[in-house]
Amino acid sequence: MFDSGLGGLSVWRELTRLLPQEPVIYLADRAYCPYGGRSAEDILARSEAITRYLIGQGAKLIVIACNTATSAAARELRRRYPELPIVGMEPAVKPAALHSRSGQIAVLATRATLKGDKFLDLKAQYDDSVDILPLPGDGFVELVENGDLGSDEAHQVVRRQLQPLQAHAVDQVVLGCTHYPFLSHLIEAALPAGVKLVDPARAVSQQAERLLHRHGLATTSSHAPTHRFVTTADAGSMSDFLRRVLDHQGEVSVVDVDSVAD
Ligand code: DGL
Repeated sequence: MFDSGLGGLSVWRELTRLLPQEPVIYLADRAYCPYGGRSAEDILARSEAITRYLIGQGAKLIVIACNTATSAAARELRRRYPELPIVGMEPAVKPAALHSRSGQIAVLATRATLKGDKFLDLKAQYDDSVDILPLPGDGFVELVENGDLGSDEAHQVVRRQLQPLQAHAVDQVVLGCTHYPFLSHLIEAALPAGVKLVDPARAVSQQAERLLHRHGLATTSSHAPTHRFVTTADAGSMSDFLRRVLDHQGEVSVVDVDSVAD
């Protein structure tokens, strides 16, 4: 699995719950985080280098645990690696649209995701049945990367970004960036009671499970697996985050993904 940073750990958490036997290597591209303000070409180049690294480590399936990288790179990676099952993130517009009673939903994501074809296609597909309000979560990724999940400043950043929702009767908010589930308590606190947050991590993990079975790749071992965590920068704060937020004692090592890039 990979993400620009720690956000994809919200998917790792679901995936390892659903598939407790599968060993997972999680790569955080923290040297290049955030991806949200980068060009689609840069994000594709990073995603390609990381995919090559993960294949070199023995990966049999890749989960792009990042909406921004999925939007910029999933199609091209599938073309370049036709044999490799690749699971990407998708903003959960469909379930949110289905469950909305007010007929208004918001999609909270990075600016790159909101500009990407994947989201624009989804929006066009559901525009007739619900009003879809795109909302950039500026500053949210940085809060999570800094391990700040609850300071006064974090509350303020979240409240400020959600301010435009005050004028709408939104009842479903799609978390369209994998960092955001770590801020869900702040997002909930800034919204009227009863607004539902929709996180696709579980659905994405179920898709990974289906693909593992379809390709005959599911592990047959019944031993508890060893998970690996690697990052392109800042291993120390990543270990702290793992311990504090996920209660996981995993070691984190630094890798140079570029050394296998070409
Ligand atoms: N976790 C990311 C996503 O799902 C990336 C955020 C970023 O690096 O800007 O979009």
